[in-house]
Amino acid sequence: MKRIAILASGSGSNAENIIKTFAAEQDLDVILVLSNNPEAGVIKRAHKLNVPTLVFSRRNFEKEVVEILQERKVDWVILAGFLWLVPPTLIQAYPNRIINIHPALLPNYGGKGMWGHHVHEAVVANKESHSGITIHYVNEKYDEGEIIFQAKCALEEKETPDSLAAKVHELEYEHFPRVIAEEIRK
Ligand code: GAR
Repeated sequence: MKRIAILASGSGSNAENIIKTFAAEQDLDVILVLSNNPEAGVIKRAHKLNVPTLVFSRRNFEKEVVEILQERKVDWVILAGFLWLVPPTLIQAYPNRIINIHPALLPNYGGKGMWGHHVHEAVVANKESHSGITIHYVNEKYDEGEIIFQAKCALEEKETPDSLAAKVHELEYEHFPRVIAEEIRK
């Protein structure tokens, strides 16, 4: 059994999808949801699904969070809409065991400040023909770890940041749990 923790800062629809998908798998178990934001929707979603939650501050991200993950024997860490840079202590504790999803085709539209709606606004403003998702390993820099998987979607002429966000979320729901499971089982 591989024990998984999810870190999320926002609504948590990806976290919910991962928890529900893995509930049907024998070998994958989401044992904890962590958030930097006590108001985040992901906390409510996790409670409804009976997954324990934990809120942490910037001050205890570097040390306590790593200790908690190790105490609870977490094997893999998944970032699902998590906005803070991951500290080196966590990356060193989980080498090639932290996976993130980004709502664009990296290396474009990545880096600090490029998250959620900001990404879709920039893509639409630049009249890109395509956007999509990138699932990648996490290193010390924002959005620069090794890419595992990408999927594309086309932008329509009348695309808005909201309509693009919905398309990207559909791609995320379709692929993220599957790609995580494949990496863990390798
Ligand atoms: C997702 O689209 C995810 O790709 C993005 O935040 C959204 C979270 O949605 N992540 C980033 O922008 C990270 N840089 P959710 O809370 O409904 O899962």
